[in-house]
Amino acid sequence: MKSGIKIAVVGGGSSYTPELISGLVGVNDLAIERVTLVDVPEGTKKMESVRSFCQRLIDHSAREFHLEATLDLRQALSGADFVLSQFRVGGMEARARDERIPLQYGAIGQETVGAGGFANALRTIPVALDIARELERVSPRARLINFTNPSGIITEALLRYSSVDAIGLCNVPITIERTIAQALHVPWDTVRLDIFGLNHLSFVRHVYVHGQDIMPEVLEYLKGEYGKEQSFMANIPEENWQPYMLEAFPMIPNPYLQYYWNSDIMRKKQVTEWEQGRGTRATQVMKIEQDLFKLYDDPSQHQVPDLLMRRGGAYYSTVAVMLIESLALNRTREMVVNVRNGWALAELPPNSVVEVPAVIDGRGARPLTLGALPQEVKGLIQQVKAYEELTIEAAIEGDRNKALAALVTNPLVPSGDVAYRILNDILQENREYLGRFAL
Ligand code: G6P
Repeated sequence: MKSGIKIAVVGGGSSYTPELISGLVGVNDLAIERVTLVDVPEGTKKMESVRSFCQRLIDHSAREFHLEATLDLRQALSGADFVLSQFRVGGMEARARDERIPLQYGAIGQETVGAGGFANALRTIPVALDIARELERVSPRARLINFTNPSGIITEALLRYSSVDAIGLCNVPITIERTIAQALHVPWDTVRLDIFGLNHLSFVRHVYVHGQDIMPEVLEYLKGEYGKEQSFMANIPEENWQPYMLEAFPMIPNPYLQYYWNSDIMRKKQVTEWEQGRGTRATQVMKIEQDLFKLYDDPSQHQVPDLLMRRGGAYYSTVAVMLIESLALNRTREMVVNVRNGWALAELPPNSVVEVPAVIDGRGARPLTLGALPQEVKGLIQQVKAYEELTIEAAIEGDRNKALAALVTNPLVPSGDVAYRILNDILQENREYLGRFAL
């Protein structure tokens, strides 16, 4: 048993932090010494609410570790074994702009995919790399677990442009596993996904339970779900997949594929919400957060409120804790993570980051070799990867031409003209963060 694990949480004032802490207090064999929350000065009030609520969670548990909060990044990263990255540059206000601008030009407005995810990436990549530089200086052996959105792009920027040992995580794969397990009445930890692709652009090819492929049953179940209110993700207003789509693509597409393959339906929903005065997803999240923080500030509250499940990040702490356990205790297990491709997907560059199953142990994450991409999704994955890599270069170089090329390459941006106008608005409305792009 390894002792004295130190964890830093960058973006510690996030409303998700209590879920993470409740996950950490739930593991017995991980000897945690210290968890340090760190945030920017604008996040002080939220971080203080989160810290005192998390302290109550710890006090009401059988575990004991030191919890602290600071605005000093260097102090938080110093001596850290694990860094959890979950920050949001510009807060919810910036997210609201990311979602609104594309919508005004007839495109999908979403915080991780399309032009919204692009704007988010432009703001976030330089900050993520600044944090990486600090980490290289003070704790070069620390492992960084990235949840910061757009998670795949940020993980790739870290792995390409720093020496930080980063692994990207997303809760979508575990949500798929849990949903299937519940529907087909099998224990969740017996479900294994044969999954490939990119973050928010992945596809489950096979589902195994005790080594047996149960994909036919899974597809039948999913076809029966069409039209039902209940969907995979609390944050995506999807309608589940049309049975004809599941016949044509006999896989489980990541719920975010709704934005690509049902883009008209999804865009209309977004427009309707907007016209009815309900804003975008950011507006809803701000309301949920207001209520969440009231609960966090209530001294009688010492359990993670159910309300948090109305956010999209269900099981976020479960995967984070599993990953830390495997890395820290050299406990071998297979997990779906965002890692350097190597030779996992033959048609993508070895240095790009992909979302695939990997063997995790004390040495890190080694992706399984998955072979050729199916013809029907190969082009889409390659195109989105090209968009992601152009976006990273544009963000680092502050290069407007590359930024435009990235946007035009994104399948959710309808035309060059629209891309040009969206880019102008993004740069204008984010000038506080995007000074490196000459206006
Ligand atoms: C899922 C997605 C994340 C997203 C999160 C919260 O976990 O994979 O990218 O940040 O949901 O979404 P929300 O809309 O509730 O902020």
